[in-house]
Amino acid sequence: MRPSVAVALALAAGAHGVAVESEHPAHVFGKGGAGVYRGPPSATGNAPPPPRLGKDGAGVLKGPETVPRLGKDGSGIYKDLDARTIAAKFAWYVEQFEKTYDIEEYAERLKAFSVTLREIQHHDEAHKVGLNRFSDWTSDEFEAYQKYKPSPKRHAPLVHKTTGKPLPTEVDWRKEGLVADVKDQGSCGSCWTFSTVASIEGAHAKKHGKMVTLSEQNLVDCVKKDRLPSDAEDCCAARVEISRDGCDGGLMDNAFDYIINKQKGGIDTEAAYPYRGEDERCAFESSDDGAKISNWTDVPSGDEDALMDALATVGPVSVALDASRQWQTYAGGVLTPRKWLGGCSSDPAKADHGVAVVGYGTDSTSGDYWIVRNSWGSAWGEDGYVRLKRGVNACGVANFASYPTAK
Ligand SMILES: *[C@@H]1O[C@H](CO)[C@@H](O)[C@H](O)[C@H]1NC(C)=O
Repeated sequence: MRPSVAVALALAAGAHGVAVESEHPAHVFGKGGAGVYRGPPSATGNAPPPPRLGKDGAGVLKGPETVPRLGKDGSGIYKDLDARTIAAKFAWYVEQFEKTYDIEEYAERLKAFSVTLREIQHHDEAHKVGLNRFSDWTSDEFEAYQKYKPSPKRHAPLVHKTTGKPLPTEVDWRKEGLVADVKDQGSCGSCWTFSTVASIEGAHAKKHGKMVTLSEQNLVDCVKKDRLPSDAEDCCAARVEISRDGCDGGLMDNAFDYIINKQKGGIDTEAAYPYRGEDERCAFESSDDGAKISNWTDVPSGDEDALMDALATVGPVSVALDASRQWQTYAGGVLTPRKWLGGCSSDPAKADHGVAVVGYGTDSTSGDYWIVRNSWGSAWGEDGYVRLKRGVNACGVANFASYPTAK
């Protein structure tokens, strides 16, 4: 990769690779005003309190309790990372994550990065947070990247009936060969195709004993103007007037329906129809299909017991959920929805991202979780996965769960 002007400038400053923690300058007042001169220690214990900086102690950094939470524009953030530290970390980040910006964008990205960096530095999440390829995005940009289009309706011809069977305490379909390697949707809003494909790959592998990776691009290019019997309009009509772009979002329901009705149940293999990450002309060839489905089933909305039953007895399940700012900084552990700004919501109307649940388990300290396969590459989260708190419908994970039946 050819470094951009901006990268070259940053590298010339010799600033990359500096750890944030080591860059606390000694002259900055510490938490609780540590480092502020308080006068000589009192001999009697009855002496007046030591002088404070400013009137009534104003101007003394008071530590975490008094600092407002992260605002949308970054207002209210701790200011104790100095510009030099942030610039050095950003230069390292630009190189590490192979970012290329022109000089104007460099300034914008540095600003967004500084907001993320401060949030990471002072987080109070139960899980791990860290830098990733989204760290130079604003939270608005990250929100706009989530292109699943929520629909209040459930569409599947079939509804999952809980089997009543005793379920295992842990399920991980990755270990049974029902889950392909983590893929990367790139900058295309095609999460819904990755979610659809994951559950079809799982159903096919379970039935035929062989993992065949299937084509998201097939769905990006071809699923257009699909209308489900229960809908008055074509899928995604509001946006269709502007463009019919598979990178501008979609629904797993329409993908299942389209595959069954317009592609005779088939979907092409990844090898025959590779991912390009942009909307192109539909080029499905039934001779290239790698799996077939006959129908699909909804799991009752918001019912995590039913989702657990479906997961354990059927296989990987497609779900839609709210991937909030918490997902932008997630770096491992059990993601637990936080109440304050940036926390993910269980409200079905907030669903904006399609993923696949591929297992569940219990962590000795963090409790019950779902294993969720994401489509942001294997460098994000836990090798491309997120463990999500189970039992509180975290991020609305159980609101729109569905799975196909393999032929
Ligand atoms: C799916 O299942 C429903 C309910 O059994 C049935 O009415 C429908 O015809 C099936 N769809 C296909 C494509 O077989």
